[in-house]
Amino acid sequence: MSRETPWYAGRFKSSHGAQQLLFGQMYEDAAIEQKAFENKGRVFCIASAGCTAIRLSGDHDVVACDINPVQLEYAERRVLGAGLVAGYVAGCAERAMAAARAFAPLVGWSTRKVRAFLALSDVTEQVEFWRSQLDTQRFRTSFEALLSRAILRLVYAPEFLAFLPPNFGEILRRRLESGFARHANATNPFARALLLGEPHDEPRPATCRVQFALGDAASYLECCPAGSFDAFSLSNILDGAQPSYRDRLSRAVRHAATKDAVVVLRSFAEPQPELITNHAQSDRALLWGVVDVRSAHLFE
Ligand SMILES: C[S@@+](CC[C@H](N)C(=O)[O-])C[C@H]1O[C@@H](n2cnc3c(N)ncnc32)[C@H](O)[C@@H]1O
Repeated sequence: MSRETPWYAGRFKSSHGAQQLLFGQMYEDAAIEQKAFENKGRVFCIASAGCTAIRLSGDHDVVACDINPVQLEYAERRVLGAGLVAGYVAGCAERAMAAARAFAPLVGWSTRKVRAFLALSDVTEQVEFWRSQLDTQRFRTSFEALLSRAILRLVYAPEFLAFLPPNFGEILRRRLESGFARHANATNPFARALLLGEPHDEPRPATCRVQFALGDAASYLECCPAGSFDAFSLSNILDGAQPSYRDRLSRAVRHAATKDAVVVLRSFAEPQPELITNHAQSDRALLWGVVDVRSAHLFE
């Protein structure tokens, strides 16, 4: 396992040392899953910070799996009712983003300006505001430097970077702009989380039916009886993983899938132009290159 995916370490940078809480909240818009899984029964999802499991548990029986015991325990606590505390920097991802946001005033992003942007709900006005007041030359230069290989290497192990395009900063800026051109800021909790670091708690269903499983997704699904799940939400667990793990995971998903099962898989990588099942632009988290929604039996 350790050679097949870097996520087993439960750390972004080094494979030595205790596992850490990497994500205090999720940056994945589970509205995609809610729509794709309509009329489906049992769901397998990656636990991460628990947001997707909580959101889906109102309509589905959910098994939430994670390779990182610290993350799984955190998700379990959240499902049991622990909320996100405003201003609380929970995981390594939030700490890295908070460090990046510390540069905001230096590029002219005052909190007042960012709040004014986030209060908008007309997407045409949002794009005008973004282009004229936020996406300035100073911001571009700093953002692209911050997301350059040299800086990312200080925070992430090489496996987490190998699949990213070399001009990732520029690409991510474009993803942000195209997201602002589609989704109203005022009702987008992910925009607030990214730009201000404000945690967003999921609307909770009255009862959360979630079972937790510690382990890697492929190993768990290989051991399930055939046809156990109607839907799979796999986060971006293949980002950084070896091709051999992709093969194992896709075989395991097809084995564990019912006939009409659906899979949602995200990636930070740039999509192949011919990927017609890509829903990245509908994801209000604004970050993803790929949000692939397809039949589980076509997952390879
Ligand atoms: C892939 S990361 C990405 C998080 C995501 N971008 C978000 O917004 O929350 C999500 C979770 O997947 C877990 N994970 C990674 N690879 C896994 C695997 N093969 N099986 C099970 N869990 C895995 C990590 O431990 C982490 O908690």
